[in-house]
Amino acid sequence: MENEEKFTELSIKGAPQIKVVPPGPMSKNILDYQTENESSVVSYSKGMPMALKSGKGATLVDEDDNVYIDMFAGAGVMALGHGHPVALKAAHEQIDNITHTLDIPTATRKKMVSVMKSILPKELTRIFFGGPTGSDAVEQALKLAKFYTGRNGVIAFEGAYHGMTGASLALTTDSSHRDGIGQLVPGVQFVPYPYVYRNPFGCPDDKVNEQAADYLERVLEDTHSGFSKPAAIILEGVQGEGGTIIPEPIFLQRVRAICDKHDIVMIVDEIQSGLGRTGKMFAFEYAGIVPDVVTISKALGGIGFPIAAIAYKEKFNKWPAGKTIGTFRGNMVAFAAGAAGLEWMLENKVAERAAELGKKAMVTLKNIEKESSIVGEVRGKGLMLAIEMVKDKKTKEPASDYAKMVRKYAHQRGVMIEVGGHHNNVARLLPPLVITEELLMKGIEIIRGVIKDIEQGKVS
Ligand SMILES: Cc1ncc(COP(=O)(O)O)c(C=O)c1O
Repeated sequence: MENEEKFTELSIKGAPQIKVVPPGPMSKNILDYQTENESSVVSYSKGMPMALKSGKGATLVDEDDNVYIDMFAGAGVMALGHGHPVALKAAHEQIDNITHTLDIPTATRKKMVSVMKSILPKELTRIFFGGPTGSDAVEQALKLAKFYTGRNGVIAFEGAYHGMTGASLALTTDSSHRDGIGQLVPGVQFVPYPYVYRNPFGCPDDKVNEQAADYLERVLEDTHSGFSKPAAIILEGVQGEGGTIIPEPIFLQRVRAICDKHDIVMIVDEIQSGLGRTGKMFAFEYAGIVPDVVTISKALGGIGFPIAAIAYKEKFNKWPAGKTIGTFRGNMVAFAAGAAGLEWMLENKVAERAAELGKKAMVTLKNIEKESSIVGEVRGKGLMLAIEMVKDKKTKEPASDYAKMVRKYAHQRGVMIEVGGHHNNVARLLPPLVITEELLMKGIEIIRGVIKDIEQGKVS
């Protein structure tokens, strides 16, 4: 890979190094404190039990000095890796200067907006920072669409994940998040996303993307479908938590055309798939379309500072000052780190690198799919990679227990990954985009070994 030395320096050499099976005694002490004092709802530290001490690039160190290859990147936040020196320097400089200004502009904020505009399609002229989380950005995108159209409904997709707040949760399909908490925000209806491996239509697999668009078109045009004309259609550029489901360009192109035809606001949620993750700055670029509104967060704050934004077309810029407000709309440290990080990404062609690394990773992942009786399908676009675990390749019975075992034993052997998917049976790999080829391949080989051990009943 080009410039590999520059990227090698960012991470700890010789990773992974497991000195004691996690959680070691130091980690356990902190974990026990968490269990006793924090909410029962805490989850990541249950899937990967450890307490973290430090991070560098695509590597993390726990309290017992175990060194991990990070193939999770804080759920996709740490695209630049941990402690990226350029983003860190910008943050340090900013923190001594000014840190919070609501939406009163500063030179740092100006720089952030101008860097963002340089990576967005020129049609997306307006940027709004509405609150620090991805869920906030989704809420603001919906609010904008509803205000502009005067309509209320939203169409989202099966398998979608858009957040945990009121309206964003109503757009999120995972029943484990939705059930048992009463009435969600009304007006949301779901249609199938083109999940080819679990083809929802029974048509030939190569027609699934067209069928998904046909389905959407039909419910909008059939006066007896039970769908009213919505304010917006929202979809992820690549479905992330839903199991890394990658649509064909034709699907996004058709959704774009349907939105145009019916005067519906097209919102593409790039909170996870954006900022280089899929090998392009935004996943929708693969389809050559421009959404009406794009949501951006996660990697936007450079090194994990919370920040979120929507970018939208000029014609929507009709809401009056103060129509939507919020306290945390101006985290200067996040802007400083984020702008410096984005510039570094562009200078070092990080998105292109993610595309290339992703292709190399997919060669090995495809071999794993071929050789393993419990891997149904592997998928990947850039460094958004997934291994769908099944009980049986023919029946495709989902194996959520295997996916959790992959996470557990990969962690014990020094690799951090995530589990997701419609059936929680997908091992998801979201490494920092600065990961070296060597670490990426090492991590995948460790996962391969775990899958073999599961298949042969050596671990349970
Ligand atoms: C596609 C997508 N949208 C929205 C969100 C919500 O972001 P946050 O957790 O920052 O609220 C996420 C989080 O994983 C996401 O992946």
